[in-house]
Amino acid sequence: MTDTDRILYTKPSITDREIAYADDAVRTGWGAKCYDYIHRFEKAFAEHLGVKYAYATSSATGALHLGMAALDIGPGDEVIMADTNWIATAAPVVHLGARPVFVDIRPDSWCLDPEKVEQAITPRTKAIAAVHIYGNLCEMDALNQIARRHGLAIIEDAAEALGSSYRGKRAGSMGSFGAFSFHGTKTFTTGEGGMFVTNDDAIYEKVLHLGNHGRKPGISAEFWADIVGYKFRISNIQAAIGLGQVERADELIARKREIFHHYHENLNGLPGIRMNPVRTDCESGYWLPIVAFDAMAGISREDLREAMREENIDARVVFWPLSSLPPFGSGPGAPNAVEFSAHGICLPSYHDMTTAQQDRVIRVLHELSMATGFRRSRPAKIAVNL
Ligand SMILES: Cc1ncc(COP(=O)(O)O)c(C=O)c1O
Repeated sequence: MTDTDRILYTKPSITDREIAYADDAVRTGWGAKCYDYIHRFEKAFAEHLGVKYAYATSSATGALHLGMAALDIGPGDEVIMADTNWIATAAPVVHLGARPVFVDIRPDSWCLDPEKVEQAITPRTKAIAAVHIYGNLCEMDALNQIARRHGLAIIEDAAEALGSSYRGKRAGSMGSFGAFSFHGTKTFTTGEGGMFVTNDDAIYEKVLHLGNHGRKPGISAEFWADIVGYKFRISNIQAAIGLGQVERADELIARKREIFHHYHENLNGLPGIRMNPVRTDCESGYWLPIVAFDAMAGISREDLREAMREENIDARVVFWPLSSLPPFGSGPGAPNAVEFSAHGICLPSYHDMTTAQQDRVIRVLHELSMATGFRRSRPAKIAVNL
């Protein structure tokens, strides 16, 4: 490895454990054993999260779609979510005939602002999608209170929040249901894959029914469906890899935290720079370390991308405000979401990243920060919990 080799954005950590399970699934996981790894993966994940039920899916998008269908979200309904987000949370809402409603984020959490959520509620609102962006935590107590007051469901999109917790409760375990992603860029991977989780017996029963093409759980009649459902199941081979990953949960999450910590020690508080804000009563799994430049520093996302590209570093931009995308009207975007998107960048983070590689990324940001002539370090509004 030379000092100029490409630094990837993310990649998974796969050991002999995952390879042995996948090998076993390929050799023996057929016929009567064709769901064995799926069930073991679900059980291990439910235990990791501390929830009653887990149902493994082909993606987090599939888990969200199934869960929203189980909540009967459909034509005429509205689902409130943050403007800063990946389109995957909004897509199932649209496919079900409902409408995503975007509200601004809080600058001190980068997640949806509960006050804005309450202002956006209408008689059509059916649910709030709480997305723990980049592993940061939504204000779950405030959102749950709003949901209770207005009779709404909380959808917890924890696709990016493996290892994150809010006041001792794991992200994904606090809403009507939660969804996780095991895409190859995530902290645990199955290549493509996801997990639906819930503590609610009725929602789980409905997901089992809808998720098997409308065949009721336990039905004996072959090929008999009483409703039109979906098929978003993971494969047994992918689940075998996932089982190995969940069994390494503590190690995988700890390493992501360590990587963040090294960036944070060297970057946070530099003139004009701020990193992932996490309340002291929360913990982040730090899926991705983010650097947000102060708007006054005059460093744009393009400057950041260009500086990283020149050093052969694959850093990615922060999500565009969803309301600014063509399918949602190409609007101006909510103000805080616009500022975050305009001045933020996701730094590379993966388990076997070396300190020397991190230091190359840090060097680029130091140079940018010094070049701004911006000498006021923004005082931290909230403590960062490491
Ligand atoms: C916030 C969020 N929700 C949902 C998803 C969808 O995950 P998947 O690619 O597994 O469908 C992602 C993917 O990155 C995401 O970041």
